Amino acid sequence: MAINMKGKDLISINDLTIEEIYQIFDVAKTLKEDNYIGRSHKVLEGKTLGMIFTKPSTRTRISFETGIYQLGGIGMYFGPNDLQLGKSESVADTAQVLSRYLSGIMIRTFAHSDVVELAKYASIPVINGLTDLLHPCQVLTDLFTILEKKRTLRGLKFAYIGDGNNMAHSILHGCSKVGMDVFISSPSGYKPDEQIVKNALNNAAYMGSKVVITEDPIESVKDADIVYTDVWASMGQEKEAEERKKKFIRYQVNPELVKYAKSDYLFMHCLPAHRGDEVVNEVADSANSVIFDEAENRMHVQKAIMALVM
Ligand code: CP
Ligand code: NVA
Repeated sequence: MAINMKGKDLISINDLTIEEIYQIFDVAKTLKEDNYIGRSHKVLEGKTLGMIFTKPSTRTRISFETGIYQLGGIGMYFGPNDLQLGKSESVADTAQVLSRYLSGIMIRTFAHSDVVELAKYASIPVINGLTDLLHPCQVLTDLFTILEKKRTLRGLKFAYIGDGNNMAHSILHGCSKVGMDVFISSPSGYKPDEQIVKNALNNAAYMGSKVVITEDPIESVKDADIVYTDVWASMGQEKEAEERKKKFIRYQVNPELVKYAKSDYLFMHCLPAHRGDEVVNEVADSANSVIFDEAENRMHVQKAIMALVM
């Protein structure tokens, strides 16, 4: 049965029900198949998506902008210096003004609280395109990609190796919601947020799956179906990059580490990758790697989200 998601915000995967998650995947699959056979689906004709970016982006910007265009609407890009947001105009006032012009807002910014505030005061749907805390559109896409490749999600083992950052957090939410066993291995001092781990443990208890936080990359990768990593220093942490390189060296995804995974494991990365740091070319360009399928699927999954909520 179709679930009405019109007007809903997408701030965190933890706010979605499992039925809503699978509905996004079903719509994404249809839209992707439509694209492959050239069938148009202009279900958002006349609608406008405002796209606010206070951090850089390749995939998010281009996939949202192309996606809204393919759905018959238009995307409007606002860069770091375009809006008064939070500087000379409050987030609450900006939200109410934008709601008078636009049909939806996609925002990528630093403080997660700004996105929550924007959604609170906007009367149109707000989609989180990455904050310091979460990256839900990426992880929904990653789960969709795994489903395409493995035909199932429940019961698979997902290993994330690296920084306990926005990606690790959305992975904890997403994998636990769909009943995958999720193992996060990070160095001491770089573990994921405790509240998010608690959320994931609650979801996993409901689904009968596992959440394991460890410092041992081999424990996480052992017999894994998915091996995932991300940059060691995220956007905004550039000054820490050198110090982090030393602390994370044991967490590099290389042929030595992935030999512990299942032979048909998928290598995944949200990109951009810092090749030679968190992953080496032998893994990123191997037959197990699906990094460019993930990048492509961002567009199909985000189109599904827009079509459902806008
Ligand atoms: N993965 C991802 O969100 O990429 P961009 O930073 O290029 O948008
Ligand atoms: N953790 C990375 C993800 C980029 C898509 C960052 O926030 O920079």
